[in-house]
Amino acid sequence: MNTVKLLETGLELTFPQATAYFNYFWLRDNCATSWDSVTQERTFDVLEEPDDLSAQHAEVVSGDLKLVWQDGHQSLFSLAWLERWSNGEYLPDIAVRTRVPWYSDHYSKMARFDYTDLVNNPASVADWTESLLDEGVSIVQGLPDSNEGLKDLCNLIGTVRASFSGHEFDVFSKADPENLAYTSKSLELHTDLPPEELPPGVQFLHCRINDAEGGDSLFVDAMAVANKLKAEFPEHFKLLTELRVPFRYTTKDHDVRSRQFIIEIDANNGEVSGVNFSQHLSGIFDFDQKIMDALYPAFRQFGRMMQDPKYLMKFRLHAGECIVFDNHRIAHGRAAYLEGSGDRYLRGCYVDRGELRSKYRVLRAKYPNGAE
Ligand SMILES: [Fe+2]
Repeated sequence: MNTVKLLETGLELTFPQATAYFNYFWLRDNCATSWDSVTQERTFDVLEEPDDLSAQHAEVVSGDLKLVWQDGHQSLFSLAWLERWSNGEYLPDIAVRTRVPWYSDHYSKMARFDYTDLVNNPASVADWTESLLDEGVSIVQGLPDSNEGLKDLCNLIGTVRASFSGHEFDVFSKADPENLAYTSKSLELHTDLPPEELPPGVQFLHCRINDAEGGDSLFVDAMAVANKLKAEFPEHFKLLTELRVPFRYTTKDHDVRSRQFIIEIDANNGEVSGVNFSQHLSGIFDFDQKIMDALYPAFRQFGRMMQDPKYLMKFRLHAGECIVFDNHRIAHGRAAYLEGSGDRYLRGCYVDRGELRSKYRVLRAKYPNGAE
């Protein structure tokens, strides 16, 4: 039997297992009538309520809590719904999934999708977005050799978001490089553009030509490495999740600066959700020099662990393939290639991770696992 007791700022409701407290403003704000039935947006304005808002009357009627407010408004809450909130089981989110770590042997197991199938089959896009949430990396094969092919693929997940270098970027050898990616030199493991206030979320790299000698792609699940760091060097891990380090990107037209955590934690489930790692775009660490005594060992340990062959997936991208990956979770790099030995051309762009999760929620609801 549920009982309800009105207090000054809220009410106490007993469930079979426990008694829970609910604040009056929270209850009134989340009355079923607060929402527009078409847009699902809140139309109720809690700011208009009196400071001493309270329920005048409360009773439990056939599985519902019924409240009558000072102004006569009535609210009805399902007890099961209230119990979920009191237990900390909030609005279920199918996009909060447990990430699956992977290691150097992942190439043969990597999720692969066919471009034409994705374009024609939203159920396959649901599978694709799920693999990006779980493993953070996938390969799409069979892209047309055109700029439109990449754009159309991105649009299956969301809107292409610009970075300070524009909506798309091209990676090939340049005579006058302003960024290391535009040369034939090896490219250290990094995540893209941590100097941006919101570093790009999902990265698409469409391989248009690759017949140069060398230039293998290097990918690392930095989450798997960070989890290992947490287990073996908890103090290093803690520091890298707590300090926002400076990053900077400068060209003749840009001076972009931001501070980021080197290891990011997912607020939804406490997992490592990503990293910001780029030695070539790191600013000068500007903490007290005593902090450097702890920061450099932590930074070097983490960076070296990422280079460990146990974690490093090395492979060759082929023309017509697009590697799609979580730019926060997956660090990437490139072995050097022999300039003049052949052509190498990748075209890339980004979509935010929020769009990936949104697309997944919508498509998975429509196409449950296994459904076509
Ligand atoms: Fe990059």
